Parts: sequence; C-alpha cells; structure tokens
Amino acid sequence: MENDRLIDSDEISEDFQTEISLRPRNFSEYVGQERIKQTLSIAIRAAQKRVESLDHVLLYGPPGLGKTTLANVISHEMKTDIKVTSGPAIEKAGDLVAILTRLQKGDILFIDEIHRLNKVSEEVLYSAMEEYRVSWVIEQGLKARSVNLGIQPFTLIGATTKYGKLSPPLRDRFGSIFRLNFYTDPEMTTILKRSSNIFKVKTEQEGLEQIAKRSRKTPRIGNRLLRRVRDFSEIESNGIINLDVVINALDQLEVDSIGLDKIDIDFLNSLIVKFGGGPVGLDTLSASINEDTGTVEDVIEPFLLNLGFISRTNRGRIATNLAYEHLGIEIDPKQGNLI
Ligand SMILES: Nc1ncnc2c1ncn2[C@@H]1O[C@H](COP(=O)(O)OP(=O)(O)O)[C@@H](O)[C@H]1O
Ligand SMILES: [Mg+2]
Repeated sequence: MENDRLIDSDEISEDFQTEISLRPRNFSEYVGQERIKQTLSIAIRAAQKRVESLDHVLLYGPPGLGKTTLANVISHEMKTDIKVTSGPAIEKAGDLVAILTRLQKGDILFIDEIHRLNKVSEEVLYSAMEEYRVSWVIEQGLKARSVNLGIQPFTLIGATTKYGKLSPPLRDRFGSIFRLNFYTDPEMTTILKRSSNIFKVKTEQEGLEQIAKRSRKTPRIGNRLLRRVRDFSEIESNGIINLDVVINALDQLEVDSIGLDKIDIDFLNSLIVKFGGGPVGLDTLSASINEDTGTVEDVIEPFLLNLGFISRTNRGRIATNLAYEHLGIEIDPKQGNLI
C-alpha cells in the first residue's frame, strides 16, 4: 500500500535510478532556494580562497525538497569528495569513528536523518566537528580505555526532516543552518521542464504547469507525477504531455487540482467531520486515518500547513476556513475555533 502512494516522499527503490539521473549537479542546475544558494556560494568561495574546509551545514525541511541533492551540489562546487551515511546506519560509535578517521582533508561527510543518530555517536561528533578530534572508549570493564585521535579537517552536512528532534548541542555546532522552502509553481515548472528534457519527452507548457500545480510544491513528487503522466501520454496523446492528458491522468491517479491525494483528503475529512474541525491531538488524528504519526507529521501536515489549511496549536490540530472551502463543507456557525 505504501508504494502505491503517489505523494509518498520516500525514495522508493524503483525510482532510485531515475532520481539520480534527474539530480542537479551544480548551483546553476539547482532551481530555486535562491537565498540558500547565495549564502552558500559566498561561503564556498570564501572557504576556497582561504584554502579551508567549509563550515558545517545543516539542511532541514520536508522530504523531497532537495536536501540530499544540495549536499551533493555543495561537494561538486567545493570540488571535494562526499561520503554519505545516515543516522540509522550508524549503529555503534565505532562505525562513525571509522568513517571520520578515513576522511581526507576537506572531504564532506553527509549524514542524512541526522536526528536519528544515537547519543554516543552524537557525542563523538561534537569534538570531531569542533576540533577535528575523536575520542571514544574501546573495550569494556577493566580493559576499557579511551582513545583520542586527530582527524582531517572536514565539513559535516547534516540533513533532517525533524529540526526539533535535534539536540541543542549538536545544532549549535553547525556554522550555517538552512530550512528548505516549498517551491513556487514557476520553479516547479522549470524543474519539470528540465526533467522532461532528460526523459526526452515532448511537452506543452500548459501541461507542465498543470503538473506543477499538483506537485505539492515538491520536486520529488513533481518528477514522479511526470513519469506517471508520461505513461498515459504514450497511450493517449502520441507521447505528448499536454493539458488534457495531464488532467486526465492526475484525476485518475486521484491527485486533486491542488495536489492533495486521497490520504490528505481523508485527513482533512476526519479533522473536520469526525472531530468538528479540532483541536485534536496528533495521535488520535493519525489513528483515525490509519497512518503512523511520523507520516502525518513529516509528509501530510507540512504541505497542509503551507497551504494554510490547518494550524497546529498546543491543544492540537485545527482546520481553517480554507480547508472547509476546499472540501466544499459548510462551516458550522456553532464552532468557535475557526481562524
Ligand atoms: N532545487 C532542485 N532543482 C531541481 N531538482 C530538484 C531540486 N531539488 C530536488 N530536486 C529533485 O528532487 C529529487 C528529490 O530531491 P532530494 O535531494 O532527494 O530530496 P530530500 O533529500 O530533501 O528528500 C531529486 O532527485 C531531484 O531530481
Ligand atoms: Mg534525502
């Protein structure tokens, strides 16, 4: 069931190769996020001028907005190697020590889902980031001894969907912290145009704009929708992606006019109909639509928040007027919680 979900933002293996082929390599191919690109390119040029490694960078934001891509772009622009790992992949602090001690001068270490790093590994990172040293304890009991080693200057790039889950001491050790934004429709159209050139499919502007509108302002989803529409176009419109085929395909795939899919609609319906518009807690709301709270928090809610359809209060989630309007549900005048 997970894999059928169009808007699911995980890197599904089937998509993996395509995703790599679509991945921008440098700043000029990387669309949007202008402020981040400007700040980073100045930092990169300054670091290169001083022949130093770039200060540690933390990237956060919902899945599919380009964190992993940006880490690779930074490595390309710095002309340094990038080693890639993730919080859950580092089981023991020793694994992290092994990675850190093998880094060459100036290398980038990319740790995805850095909020899932265990405590001991996190502590190894502190001194590595701050003074390029690692210290950890090997063996146990009487034989226990601590080892302290210098490592090469490197740049840590951390990525996370959950900024709030990062411990403050770790957060504080990043020289720059960037939140990736959702993309505007014109930016999404540019990304889709580039992808269709790589796929070598013919497109009409209006068709691309329509996919852009329904892509949840998220490149990964846009590219996924583009591929699904391409299948339809081969059968229905001689391989040309035009407005008609896009509308037909995305309607059939149950992606609505602003990119909400069945699960988003279930979510809103539950919030509005079952819980009278809220406030209702995350756990209760997630259970009511059979989704785990992680998916709700990371995938469903950020986009609905961005649309202004829901808001998070300390008493729980509430639906806004815009959500009622989109679903065509009359607002119950007895309810006092609308904003
Ligand atoms: N700024 C961008 N410009 C063009 N394509 C992008 C951009 N950001 C992301 N993409 C596309 O979206 C896909 C998903 O991006 P990714 O970096 O894996 O997201 P994240 O790591 O934030 O989940 C990439 O493979 C790439 O094709
Ligand atoms: Mg990623």
